[in-house]
Amino acid sequence: MELKIALLGFGVVGQGLTEILEEKGKALAGDTGFQAKIVAISDMMKGSIYHPDGLNAAEALRAVKETGKLDAYPDEPGLIRGWDSFKTIQETNADTIVELTYTDVRTGQPAIDHCRAAFECKKHVVMSNKGPVALAYQELSELARKNGVRWGYEGTVMSGTPALRMPITSLAGNRIDEIKGILNGTTNYMLTQMEAGMSYEEALSEAQALGYAEADPTSDVEGYDAQYKITILSNIVMNTPLNREDVACEGISKLTQEDIEWAKAEGKRWKLIAKCYREGDRLLAKVGPEAIPLSDPLAGVGGAVNAITYYCDLAGPITLIGAGAGRKETGFSILIDLINIHRNQL
Ligand code: HSE
Repeated sequence: MELKIALLGFGVVGQGLTEILEEKGKALAGDTGFQAKIVAISDMMKGSIYHPDGLNAAEALRAVKETGKLDAYPDEPGLIRGWDSFKTIQETNADTIVELTYTDVRTGQPAIDHCRAAFECKKHVVMSNKGPVALAYQELSELARKNGVRWGYEGTVMSGTPALRMPITSLAGNRIDEIKGILNGTTNYMLTQMEAGMSYEEALSEAQALGYAEADPTSDVEGYDAQYKITILSNIVMNTPLNREDVACEGISKLTQEDIEWAKAEGKRWKLIAKCYREGDRLLAKVGPEAIPLSDPLAGVGGAVNAITYYCDLAGPITLIGAGAGRKETGFSILIDLINIHRNQL
């Protein structure tokens, strides 16, 4: 069966996913039997288009590249323009909603309401917005379950690096006692540059120019982005409901050049570490800068890269290193959830 997809939001990730489907669609059908077509795109700034038989993805990409707007998508019989996001969810023939809107991570909106509306219409949702998973996991997963639909959110932690799915599937049977990771690329890039002699301010502007930082970089440098991600890992991988407020959080903004030199002299390296760990029956979680020994696998991870170690009772420590952001990488994280919906494996 071919998935019919509606994209809410046509920014970097939505365009990245569309390019992947264009470039690899035929190969994917051959390799995995996966078939999908985009029937609707709705973007607050760029406009919206819907065709029940499917849109021409190449034309949508071209229109946005050349004019910044979907209005430049060519007219054709059956094409409807001007739908808002809720109409796109409720009134199109899409069976799968890909939620990539500009969402305020502190409230999770409008993504949380989009998920509610989609599940109530018995439509699957795939997303990379962290807010709904970090803030409303119990409610939304129950709503999806009740309506017999799937909810994919692999891209919320470490984009296309399978930080959520890998431990659940491939480490099944282990007791994971601790998860410890570098979950924010911006701060890891900044710390790497600061160790090489760059000032905090220079390192931050470079990270912003390279597109790693959130729209408001406070979320990166004060640790909130990592706090959301470790909350998600606690809920999904450790199977323990935890609220963001339960996670003590400190960023890197107070680290000085003296701290960095001190760590170097001690054979250590500062990293912004997010972790959750079991203490008796409880799960504790926190985010903060730690000077870790160079022998720790996380110490060797430089630049805007993410890494995570799962401490397992049977398999021992297992570390996963990979991208935590990016057009293709996050586009891929959406694709993998779509393929798993198609395979009935999500
Ligand atoms: N701003 C985030 C980071 C991007 O630097 O890792 C993905 O959440």
